[in-house]
Amino acid sequence: MKVTIFGTGYVGLVTGTCLAEVGHDVICVDIDVSKVEGLNIGIIPIYEPGLESMVRDNHSAGRLRFSTDGATAIEHGETIFIAVGTPPDEDGSADLQYVLAVANTIGRHLTQSTVIVNKSTVPVGTADKVRATIAAELAIRALDIKFEVVSNPEFLKEGDAVNDCMRPDRIVIGANSDGAVEQLKRLYAPFNRNHDRVVAMDVRSAELTKYAANAMLATKISFMNELANIAERVGADIEHVRKGIGSDPRIGWHFIYPGAGYGGSCFPKDVQALAHTARQYDYEARLLNAVEAVNESQKGHLFELIQRHYGADLSGKTFAMWGLAFKPDTDDMRAAPSRTLLQQLWGAGVEVRAYDPEARHEAERIFGERRELVLCDSAFEALQGADALIVVTEWKQFRSPDFTDLKLALSGKVIFDGRNLYEPTEVERAGISYYGIGRGR
Ligand code: UGA
Repeated sequence: MKVTIFGTGYVGLVTGTCLAEVGHDVICVDIDVSKVEGLNIGIIPIYEPGLESMVRDNHSAGRLRFSTDGATAIEHGETIFIAVGTPPDEDGSADLQYVLAVANTIGRHLTQSTVIVNKSTVPVGTADKVRATIAAELAIRALDIKFEVVSNPEFLKEGDAVNDCMRPDRIVIGANSDGAVEQLKRLYAPFNRNHDRVVAMDVRSAELTKYAANAMLATKISFMNELANIAERVGADIEHVRKGIGSDPRIGWHFIYPGAGYGGSCFPKDVQALAHTARQYDYEARLLNAVEAVNESQKGHLFELIQRHYGADLSGKTFAMWGLAFKPDTDDMRAAPSRTLLQQLWGAGVEVRAYDPEARHEAERIFGERRELVLCDSAFEALQGADALIVVTEWKQFRSPDFTDLKLALSGKVIFDGRNLYEPTEVERAGISYYGIGRGR
């Protein structure tokens, strides 16, 4: 089938590539000329395992093209996806200007009956706005072309996006007609083997489903972080508690890891946007507000532990930091807990020697050259002469260090483990003081 995708960010690029991989004829459109030029010669703007080779293979097979020409791409697509960014506005609401700009372009160039699919995470009611925008443009052109706007939210995770897209656990389709559902079912048929993963519903329910999923996951994390703070005070170990509750299938093992707080481009933004939507409908979402507030304060928790150990005056100290990305297997540092901690440490006169397997360039882009940040080429190099090690992201390569070597490299013998990667007794046996999250034994 012929598919057009607006936006070559995470969602657009991964979706377009996976659709091409199963044989569809895909054109991805972006207004960023250099990005499009790069993609056409195989340069991928993001770090995502497995994506680069898939883009190259499908591009050379002629099934995946990149273009800045919206008009031609609109003519091409029987199905047109909108997968552009929805950055947060000052008040926490999602900024729809890019989505509506695409809707406008579609309205100006549409020539045939088409299904338009909202894949960006957008507030409830956005499909109606997209429909109205396209209809207004068609009215100006005095054209009566049939089109439908469908909500088909994306549930992919950074770092595992290709896998999530190729093997979805559900395909949510929100449409107001059976015809549009059938068209998307045909498009997704190659991903829908063994059992039917399509969950069809009305448009508004589909829009809300996306926020519900992310808000539920964020709630689990904030709940565990709150519990970790209680554990710390009452002399319990949250890691035992986690295992004790995760074994209950009603609770489950996923997303109950306490840590330095959730980051990334989705959870913080989506929780706030959903609370904002609720407020617009005269409902104060107290739980969502609390989820976000707990997360904000959790991002400061490692700094509190550091001050608990050293006292308030940290000036002149040097700390090693392992991990900058908001989670492993990505170079993304958006809303990353590392950023909050870096600002707090710098504010206290601390120098940081940081290592991240992928986010070095991103850190250089965000912070530029500065004396108080040394970006190192290896985890070991970051330790040299540092007063303590702070672990912020749970990259696999940080999981089982040789604590004897680590102790030799560190000047001060302290670890602040923001992801509970280590067994406190093992670290302490090596002669290193240990602080974790919620480990108040
Ligand atoms: C999230 C969702 O997991 C995806 O299903 C969704 O499609 C995506 O948002 C989106 O809306 O586009 P993502 O932001 O890539 O995906 O990352 P996650 O793996 O969900 O992690 C989010 C944050 O939660 C990370 O900072 C991670 O460290 C933290 N986290 C996760 C915890 O602190 N504890 C946990 O137990 C799990």
